[in-house]
Amino acid sequence: MQSVMDRDIDKILITAQEISDKIKEVGAQITEDYKGKDILMIGILKGSVTFMADIMREIGVHTELDFMSVSSYGSAVKSSGVVKINKDLDVPLQGRDVLIVEDILDSGLTLSYLRELLRDRNPASIKIVTLLNKPARRVADIQPDYCCFEIPDEFAVGYGLDYNERYRNLPYVGVLKPEVYTHID
Ligand code: IMP
Ligand code: MG
Repeated sequence: MQSVMDRDIDKILITAQEISDKIKEVGAQITEDYKGKDILMIGILKGSVTFMADIMREIGVHTELDFMSVSSYGSAVKSSGVVKINKDLDVPLQGRDVLIVEDILDSGLTLSYLRELLRDRNPASIKIVTLLNKPARRVADIQPDYCCFEIPDEFAVGYGLDYNERYRNLPYVGVLKPEVYTHID
């Protein structure tokens, strides 16, 4: 079924089926690695929600959820690496095995700042799982511990990722048609 959003897509990078298959695989790996431990998943709002909802159901150890909302200072296109916390966690991290869930690791500036901030709260461990990884654009010295897909240096939307807050509800990951970026309504 074609939606109004589908019409704006130039090409599909990762299909819904590919996402689903890969999440099962990564979820199984996380289950194996955390055997005997409880996980505290921290979703970074809003891009991570779709991915978090799916991967948590593939994880077979006790898992609690919490959320953080952050925005980076600087322009919309260029992340400065300094992060403003709009919503902090509800629970302390002392002694917890923390798994940060993010939609994409791009420059890495946001997550490297956030990881240091959370490290200061003395968790037992801290790891990162991302849906996407764009290594070509990396500035900060940071890698995801678990990553589903590496993508080329293109702006991706769908499955949680937005352009101007839209397209998060596409069930796949794609690239927008160039005219969509210039179209103002
Ligand atoms: P970083 O600090 O450059 O790693 O920025 C990470 C954030 O930028 C992600 O959480 C996304 O919200 C956003 N972002 C980076 N690349 C993309 C993309 O290709 N599509 C949509 N959002 C992106
Ligand atoms: Mg985001």
